[in-house]
Amino acid sequence: MSEEIDTSKRHFLTVATVVVGSVGVVMAAVPFVSSMEPSARAKSLGGPVDIDISKIEPGGMIKAKWRGKPAWVVQRPQTALNELPKNDALLRDPDSDEPQQPAYAKNEWRSIKPELFVVIGICTHLGCSPLYVPQPGDPSVGPTWPGGFFCPCHGSKYDLAGRVFKNVPAPLNLPVPRYYYASDQVIRIGEDPKGSKSTWTEPLVW
Ligand code: FES
Repeated sequence: MSEEIDTSKRHFLTVATVVVGSVGVVMAAVPFVSSMEPSARAKSLGGPVDIDISKIEPGGMIKAKWRGKPAWVVQRPQTALNELPKNDALLRDPDSDEPQQPAYAKNEWRSIKPELFVVIGICTHLGCSPLYVPQPGDPSVGPTWPGGFFCPCHGSKYDLAGRVFKNVPAPLNLPVPRYYYASDQVIRIGEDPKGSKSTWTEPLVW
């Protein structure tokens, strides 16, 4: 088990979150998911990863790894959700028409539950990991900044739904992986919801 706390959100609540990077660790805290433990072979092939979201707080972020890539869960307060539609005219793909997410995340929040955003933290420009800068007007980005993810290497910007802004080098929204709620407190990344007939193909760059 590893523990990692994002330090970029200066004005949001300090978050003490537990990152669960393997299913085996979740088993200790949530015994009823024990039957979902993937095999060692599945893990080596990039099998699913469970994230304990029980301690996430408004504005907080949990960081984990999936397939060696950063997998994040962000808790978006209602105030932040209310602001998302206001970004639409400024975005390259506001309706998520590009296949950067499974069908159940192709909505205005790009998520299953509006308040919890699950995303792969890799910029679609050249693959850097953007900074989480949730506070509107944060001086590190600028006074018109609505809050979101900022990739400082070449200035790509994404809103709090991971939707890329126009006039930046990144061409696509941040990718949303397959995931579902294994319980109210655990998100499983790497698998579709039970019963989902998703035919979506993840972009190869993942
Ligand atoms: S990799 Fe993000 S702007 Fe270049």
